[in-house]
Amino acid sequence: MELFLFIISIIIFILFVYRLYPWLRYRLPPGPYPWPIIGNLLDVKPDRCRCFAEWSKIYGPIMSVWIGSSLNVIVSNSELAKQVLKDCDQQLANRHRPKAVAIISKGGTDLVWADYGAHYVKVRRVCTLELFSPKRTEALRPIREEEVRAMIASIFKDSTNSSNSLVLRKYLGSVAFNNITRLVFGKRFESEEGVVDGQGLEFRAIVANEFKLGIPQGLVEHISWLRWIRWLGDDEAFTKHLAHKDGLTRAIMEEHKAKSMKSGVVKQHFVDALLSRREIHGLSEDTIMGLLWNMITAGMDTVAITVEWAMAELVMNPRVQHKAQEELDRVIGLNRGMNESDTLNLPYLRSVAKEALRLHPPTPLMLPHKANAHVKIGGFDIPKDTIVSVNVWAIARDSSIWEDPLEFKPERFLQRDVDIGGHDFRLLPFGAGRRICPATQLSINLVTLMLGQLLHHFEWTPPLGVRSEEIDMTDSPGLVNYMRTPLQIVPTPRLPAQVYERV
Ligand code: HEM
Repeated sequence: MELFLFIISIIIFILFVYRLYPWLRYRLPPGPYPWPIIGNLLDVKPDRCRCFAEWSKIYGPIMSVWIGSSLNVIVSNSELAKQVLKDCDQQLANRHRPKAVAIISKGGTDLVWADYGAHYVKVRRVCTLELFSPKRTEALRPIREEEVRAMIASIFKDSTNSSNSLVLRKYLGSVAFNNITRLVFGKRFESEEGVVDGQGLEFRAIVANEFKLGIPQGLVEHISWLRWIRWLGDDEAFTKHLAHKDGLTRAIMEEHKAKSMKSGVVKQHFVDALLSRREIHGLSEDTIMGLLWNMITAGMDTVAITVEWAMAELVMNPRVQHKAQEELDRVIGLNRGMNESDTLNLPYLRSVAKEALRLHPPTPLMLPHKANAHVKIGGFDIPKDTIVSVNVWAIARDSSIWEDPLEFKPERFLQRDVDIGGHDFRLLPFGAGRRICPATQLSINLVTLMLGQLLHHFEWTPPLGVRSEEIDMTDSPGLVNYMRTPLQIVPTPRLPAQVYERV
């Protein structure tokens, strides 16, 4: 018994010293008191960006938060964001891969979850040159325009069949799904009537399963020496999932190649770009499939989330809605729908999109970065392997840099233009630096087009008997910031009937 107690005491002592070691050795940023073993895990509220913003009022704009045994540093002002994403960009460009993510991303052989290094530089270059070049973005413009027109047609049909409100997310989700599968695989799984075919259902099931498998499984996920518990018996689920996903991806790729060969036309989709340049860039099959799936998972929800928030703000702020509609009527007229090229002449609409991304960035803490070397931020030590997040949600609501930060006021960008593409550290919905979202321009184009078409074709109001102040503007916690309650609103057509017939 005595020996047992002695061993337990030694273990507790070692854990205590292990826990204390970084504190003694380094000058870490301040933060809430970390409990032994679990750190601050139980104190962090599910709505992390809000929780960290609250804590930053107590501990300052750079904070240490221990999630189990991992040190997380969160920065919440634009000056420190600049240090993270510009001055120390390269040293903070690794990714933290929890075990599930490591398996799904095959050890970071993709882009999103790859550490910074030769592989990352290579695939990022391929993305910049082959997938998101201005030429490719332009070549794929008809897909975006067709899908947004299909959304308008579908809303028009449903609005004339019933005078009730509709759940906007359903329509935005369809645009996002069809746009991304066509962009990536050149394939639309959904018929014009909105019926998803067998392959599409399989595809959606894989996305949903991946999301489920990727969710951290509670306490053991965060405590390094307990992680093995989670993996007892779990491997089979991952092996099955990856085999299913790879099988479907190969089948879609083969089908696409066969179609292109038969038609003799060189297609412009991401899959064509990657397969045709495979040898030149030395891309493995795993990397190609990883990249294609990265685009699906990173691109599917983000755009739809942004437009849903923007529409909620526009229903709450009829003045802004009418001002945007007045601009659309003046520039486009009442006899045709908007095209992407019209955006250039619609500064107020562009500001509406920007304002929505300011108040509701879909990834409020971006994607966490990880230090590949020891650096200093704000005078504090950031040891190698620290997970570093920028609270872009809090920065965009900082009253020291934004006037009336909580108000939806697109005019602010007409008075003073603020870059949204990673050059101005006050507004970072796409991040900045080496790991900035590679689809920034494409996403801005699509969000602006969707908003323009929705506002031009319809007047949007709350359902009968609901006041605009009653719309639930809370967000559901997670890596991405959905509206907690899907937005339900009433569209009333506002253009002559023949315009809808032509859609
Ligand atoms: C409104 C829409 C979008 C927003 C606000 C957004 C935002 C972001 C953010 C904040 C990051 C992380 C940056 C960082 O780690 O520093 C990111 C990464 C990424 N996004 Fe987006 N994104 C959007 C749409 C898209 C779309 C449509 C695609 C693909 C078609 C896409 C593909 C990616 C990829 C591949 C990465 C990883 C980049 C890397 O690690 O190097 N995103 N995005």
